Amino acid sequence: MTKLDLDIYLDDRDLDLALRADAREGLTASPKSLPPKWFYDARGSALFEDITRLPEYYPTRAEREVLVARADDIARTTKAKTLIELGSGSSEKTRLLLDALRANDTLGAFVPLDVSVAALRAAMERIAADYPALEVHGIAGDFTRHLGHLPSGGTRLVAFLGGTIGNLLPGERAAFLTSLRAAVEPGDWLLLGTDLVKDPGVLVAAYDDSAGVTAEFNRNVLHVLNRELGADFEIEAYRHVALWDAQQEWIEMRLRAEKPMTVRLLALGLAVDFAAGEELRTEVSAKFRREGVDRELSAAGFALRRWWTDPAGRFAESLAQAVPVGF
Ligand code: AVJ
Repeated sequence: MTKLDLDIYLDDRDLDLALRADAREGLTASPKSLPPKWFYDARGSALFEDITRLPEYYPTRAEREVLVARADDIARTTKAKTLIELGSGSSEKTRLLLDALRANDTLGAFVPLDVSVAALRAAMERIAADYPALEVHGIAGDFTRHLGHLPSGGTRLVAFLGGTIGNLLPGERAAFLTSLRAAVEPGDWLLLGTDLVKDPGVLVAAYDDSAGVTAEFNRNVLHVLNRELGADFEIEAYRHVALWDAQQEWIEMRLRAEKPMTVRLLALGLAVDFAAGEELRTEVSAKFRREGVDRELSAAGFALRRWWTDPAGRFAESLAQAVPVGF
């Protein structure tokens, strides 16, 4: 029988407070912005799943190619006893790692961490059903705030897949990697998925697909604010924009107001003016090069041990090991 338990560090009330704070801060700033984590209500998560199947959105398929080719190597190299997955979502690609670790006979526990208790419960039940010998220990939390609660004991492999680290700004990435390093022991492992710098045309198409799914995903954050904060965004009046910032080497998604509008957010007692053409930044998705990943990992106390890409060189998986820090 599988052992299943769930620790909750983040409940609906915490999330509501965080959304209010982020919305107030981002919508009163200049330029306006919102953090990308608010895309992912049930509809947003389903739209993201749709995105992963679009012809233009290559990262999910490219990462799967790397994991299919390298999962056994990852299992043999790390001999992990505990697999921790940050921002686990549907835990789909995780199965490749679970299968390889199980085949190599080292795995004891799976620890998915996600902000959504509902998504976590569903994923935990699916995994538990298929891996009856596995201890499944969910953590409802935010990977920028609750890494101190990761379970200890045995060699740990922390997987942070999908290129989600690219949603953090450079300073936030450094803080995240440093707090992750503080939460693990020397010898523990990090498997980090990063999308790579490539032809801007390919990148922009991946974030501005011809079927308009990404545009719907982008606008979904306005549905979230309308529902959760009693806002009155006229959603159809915001146009999806995806652009490549060659200086920063990141994709930005924005929503452009097509006319002047005043938006009221009842729950915040706030009115926000948009000028015609004014843009709200909703996501940064940074793209990486090997040297940069190596540098950022080293600075945080992780040594890059392996670097693998898909054959087309679009997406990379880094396997890094925590090294002693301090003195
Ligand atoms: C889930 C954060 C990896 O940045 O590519 C997909 C989210 N945004 N299309 C990404 C996303 C627009 C995705 N991550």
